[in-house]
Amino acid sequence: MRNELDPDRMPKHVAVIMDGNGRWAKKRLLNRLKGHEKGAEAVRTVVRTARKLNIDALTLYAFSTENWQRPQTEVSGLMFLLRRFLEAERSTLMENDIRLNVIGQIDRLPEAVRKDLKAVMAETAANDKMVLTLALSYGARAEIVDMVRQIAAAAKKGTIVPSAVTPEIVADHLYTRELSDPDLLIRTSGEMRISNFLLWQIAYAEIFFTPTLWPDFGEEEFIRILKDYQQRERRFGAIP
Ligand code: FPP
Repeated sequence: MRNELDPDRMPKHVAVIMDGNGRWAKKRLLNRLKGHEKGAEAVRTVVRTARKLNIDALTLYAFSTENWQRPQTEVSGLMFLLRRFLEAERSTLMENDIRLNVIGQIDRLPEAVRKDLKAVMAETAANDKMVLTLALSYGARAEIVDMVRQIAAAAKKGTIVPSAVTPEIVADHLYTRELSDPDLLIRTSGEMRISNFLLWQIAYAEIFFTPTLWPDFGEEEFIRILKDYQQRERRFGAIP
């Protein structure tokens, strides 16, 4: 493997399924929320590293539609950590020219969280070195259903004919319409699943599964995965 990262072959968009906070805590006989707290620190590290390496877009799966089924204490703990993260990181986002973006069913989030998200998104709106997207109350199937509803409504209204629907039009009706597709998808904690994350968008992403639990994921491992990514040959179904 090459020892140096090639700055010309960096993935433009990296997506991460941050998994294993609960197991990290359990191993230490701690409350699950301690695992999420440590996980939020790993988020800070990865955001800084991605920016330092000139990655254009970083998308993090922070809360899935299925996560609403967790005990109320865990859900509110996660919402608290999210608000604390936004408060602590807003200056870092400004100093590093990072724009905050969110995808998901945002209207299901508590009012206070929505208000904080809106404020930080507005403050960072003109930042253009990297876009940090938090997937919150996100599920890819719900996103696809929303897209179908919008296109079906446009067809009913007569503003689009079914035969004119293309992959580009589909992509333009997803929550990620302003982002390029992820080039690299990382999932921590050894689970080899996609779990309803960016199903349409990862069609050609390079996927890396690591056994590391999310709170233990750091800069060194991120760089190791990026080097490995640069060794892979991406063919998009064609012949090299
Ligand atoms: C998966 O671990 C992680 C989550 C459900 C939430 C991710 C949240 C954070 C990293 C912290 C807060 C986020 C931000 C953006 C500050 P799990 O609980 O499913 O772990 P387990 O599978 O080991 O139980």
